Amino acid sequence: MKHIRYIKNTFYCEDVLLTELAEEYGTPLYVYSKHEILDSFRSIREALGGGENLVCYALKANSNPSILKMLVDEGAGADVVSAGELFLALRAGFAPEKIAFAGVGKREDEIEYALEQNICFFNAESTAELQLLSLSAVRANKRTNVSIRVNPDIDAQSHPYITTGLNSSKFGVEAAKALDVFRFAASLPNLDIIGVHTHIGSQIIKQEPFVATALFVAELVATLRTAGIKISHIDFGGGFGVKYLNAVTHEGLPKEDPQHEFIPSPAQIVSAVLPTLQQTGCSLWLEPGRSIVAEAGLLLTKVLFRKENGSKKFLVVDAAMNDLIRPALYQAHHQIVPANIDTYEHERVDVVGPVCETGDFLAKDRLLTKSRQGDVLAILTAGAYGFVNTSNYNARLRPAEVLVNGDRVRLIRSRQTFEDLL
Ligand code: LLP
Repeated sequence: MKHIRYIKNTFYCEDVLLTELAEEYGTPLYVYSKHEILDSFRSIREALGGGENLVCYALKANSNPSILKMLVDEGAGADVVSAGELFLALRAGFAPEKIAFAGVGKREDEIEYALEQNICFFNAESTAELQLLSLSAVRANKRTNVSIRVNPDIDAQSHPYITTGLNSSKFGVEAAKALDVFRFAASLPNLDIIGVHTHIGSQIIKQEPFVATALFVAELVATLRTAGIKISHIDFGGGFGVKYLNAVTHEGLPKEDPQHEFIPSPAQIVSAVLPTLQQTGCSLWLEPGRSIVAEAGLLLTKVLFRKENGSKKFLVVDAAMNDLIRPALYQAHHQIVPANIDTYEHERVDVVGPVCETGDFLAKDRLLTKSRQGDVLAILTAGAYGFVNTSNYNARLRPAEVLVNGDRVRLIRSRQTFEDLL
């Protein structure tokens, strides 16, 4: 992370001190680096090349309107999974012809709304959905482009909750049934079945599953064309993994034990699959979410208390599972570092929040730099699936979000107030 780093012993987001942000905006606070987001987006866009190819940002990772607007200005498309996300995408200024609507359970009113807005694609996931899409398009007196999501039965080797490309997954259609489903879809009125969609999972830190999926897709496109179905588009999904361990290093920080030293960058993965996919002659869309925003974001929190129970040491902080659910939900690891390193002493602790659940932790049995009551800590790689998964559990207020651009800071979402709880 180029823009989020220590200068000597002080942690900065771009040119701004994190302790100053905590002071000015309070904690818990989501902080994003504008340049980190732009760098991530641009490197994927450059690897994908121009023409009809398009990077469609997956809004589900982080749908803050100011971040969306930045990506609109970069020429991004959008991958949405609900009418709400479609609304946010349109409001931010994404062109309808750059929007794909995915999701396993689209409601009729959501389909009608998307048809009204003339979005580019529906990524359909079942025969029942295809029937509803066709019916809705006939009623609206419109034709619409459709891609069908197919599960290549390739193991993304990620957390089971975010592995989606297996035969038994709730998403898409099985590879073995794909040809029949495409034939059926092509027989339905008002649908133009022009694309194949895949998305095999999220936080994938190896190149092989992507390469295998590209080969599968290229073969499927050839089979479909032989069957007379004119495929001209591939939506290859998202899923590129990011660095959660040792995201930041400093001689005073404990080194985290990485399971995988090397994580291929999204650009490397795109370069590896591009020749295979381009040979089909199809236009190519990608739907990355995490890899654009995760490393650009962090959650600032303050140590409320230190305590010991039995053999355990706890840091009770003011952020909780309602602010960042990933550790509680997926046992996800987020590196936690002090805003100021003023000791090189380490200690093993659980970092826990104030929510009344034992599952409310941000780190367990973690070797951290020793901290005191009142210290500010940064929970790293929190820009994706962070704020979007916040809740008001325990009637806690959702945190504020700020965007840092050089030495400038903009509040891009205010902290909730008690009134918001009513
Ligand atoms: N396209 C589709 C159809 C998806 O379902 C997803 C993510 C993406 C694109 C974007 O994937 P990404 O590039 O962000 O990996 N809450 C979980 C992640 C859930 C991912 C859901 N789908 C987490 O915090 O790890």
